[in-house]
Amino acid sequence: MPSRVAILDFGGQYTQLIARRIRELGVYSEILPCTEPVERVLGGGYTGIVLSGGPSSVYEADAPLPDKRLLESGIPLLGICYGMQAMGYLMGGHVVPAPVREYGKAHLRLLGREGLLAGVQPEADGLVTVWMSHGDTVLAPPPGFTSLAATDNCPVAAMADPTRRIFAVQFHPEVAHTPQGKTVLKNFLDAAGATADWSMPSFVDAAVDSIRRQVGKDPVLCALSGGVDSSVVAALIHNAVGDQLTCLFVDNGLLRKGEVDGVVRTFRDAFKMNLIHVDASKRFIDKLEGISDPEVKRKTIGAEFIAVFEDEARKLGHIPWLAQGTLYPDVIESVSFKGPSATIKTHHNVGGLPPNMRFKLVEPLRELFKDEVRELGALLGLPEEIIWRQPFPGPGLAIRVLGDVTEERLALLREADSIVQEEVRRAGLERQVWQAFAVLLPIRTVGVMGDFRTYAQVIALRAVTSLDAMTADWARLPYDLLGKISTRIINEVKGVNRVVYDISSKPPSTIEWE
Ligand code: XMP
Repeated sequence: MPSRVAILDFGGQYTQLIARRIRELGVYSEILPCTEPVERVLGGGYTGIVLSGGPSSVYEADAPLPDKRLLESGIPLLGICYGMQAMGYLMGGHVVPAPVREYGKAHLRLLGREGLLAGVQPEADGLVTVWMSHGDTVLAPPPGFTSLAATDNCPVAAMADPTRRIFAVQFHPEVAHTPQGKTVLKNFLDAAGATADWSMPSFVDAAVDSIRRQVGKDPVLCALSGGVDSSVVAALIHNAVGDQLTCLFVDNGLLRKGEVDGVVRTFRDAFKMNLIHVDASKRFIDKLEGISDPEVKRKTIGAEFIAVFEDEARKLGHIPWLAQGTLYPDVIESVSFKGPSATIKTHHNVGGLPPNMRFKLVEPLRELFKDEVRELGALLGLPEEIIWRQPFPGPGLAIRVLGDVTEERLALLREADSIVQEEVRRAGLERQVWQAFAVLLPIRTVGVMGDFRTYAQVIALRAVTSLDAMTADWARLPYDLLGKISTRIINEVKGVNRVVYDISSKPPSTIEWE
């Protein structure tokens, strides 16, 4: 049986990172809320269990504490930060609230270099840099444990009971600011006897089997948007059940230049999938006529998507299964105990399920993080432009044509936007920015071209860096690149005589203008 590690989430801000790091070490890991019934955790067949960090203090009345049966179960355990304090508290150590919270870089003095800290190398000053973020501190380890490291503020910064295979660290081995953190996690996995058998090819084999088992001989429908998640789902399911899959691609007329052709070329021509390409652009543009309010635009587009989807799905007869590109962060979000986990705009329901249609769901990406989805896409042979496509809002260019949305204004924006895409790609910055795009403003300004005065449209450039779209900063694109984009747009896109660059961060601005 493949190795599996569970991470009990006590609400720590880095819980997802722990799971990712363990997977990077080749071991499958999953996150469970700390409220998961202990019987289920114990019966889950886990090779090891990590108790995550969290915002609580063990001394708070409602502090979430692990069940003692877990600590006595014999399953190898690793406590991280709050997880360590909870262990210390429950197993008879001495835990005290620190007078001040310690936050940031700290320097470990190693007391031993075996077991959990084997292979951790002291730096030039003889110390090891780690990242700390804690209130409570373990002053003395519980019986059976030895202290492995200390910092100036923290006498027990790591501890172990190798006989029971219970380990704990006060610092965060999962964050990049703990440069040798991966060594610590690897040592825990080794001590737990975990084998590195999680890899993308093995995931594909298992997913293909499970999709086949799940849907049997039934047909499956997949709504393809051209984005990475739905594209990878389609490719994976096609791998598993071939022609049982039908993909529905609703062209709402609000996509970027070349995207419609790209989707058709990839899925129909290269992958030979049953792809139904519905050109619904007229329906959408008609519905948008006269609407300039951003929220009304969004709602109108969402409702129309559902209407088109229903019309088309009805034509296909009864299809019991709908494939969806739900990712692991969405799944965790719904089980998370508490704490600042982030999802991109759950209120965006464009492309959501028609509420009155009854489908059973196939969600083969439920276990994957975004970067793993990209890796999977590459393995399945999807082209780079799909795998690395920037996030693109469901309402598409309609929320980047500020004010009224017309065919003409969409066409103008599409041209300007394609210049932005091309130049950012040429400059090799495509993967460094989160999104880069053009926005068409609802104003005209005066300019001069040749001997003529012009009174024409304005394009705003928006380029941001971000980790998760919850916060973002404007990208410091090189001036030369900005200059080139501006010159090209003004020269090549008829009707534009001015380009401006948006230098606002989120918050207080948002990434999109509408
Ligand atoms: P904001 O503008 O809120 O956007 O900073 C954050 C991220 O969400 C994307 N976005 C959307 N995605 N439907 C979507 O699927 C929408 O209505 C929508 N609005 C914004 C945006 O592109 C950015 O990545």
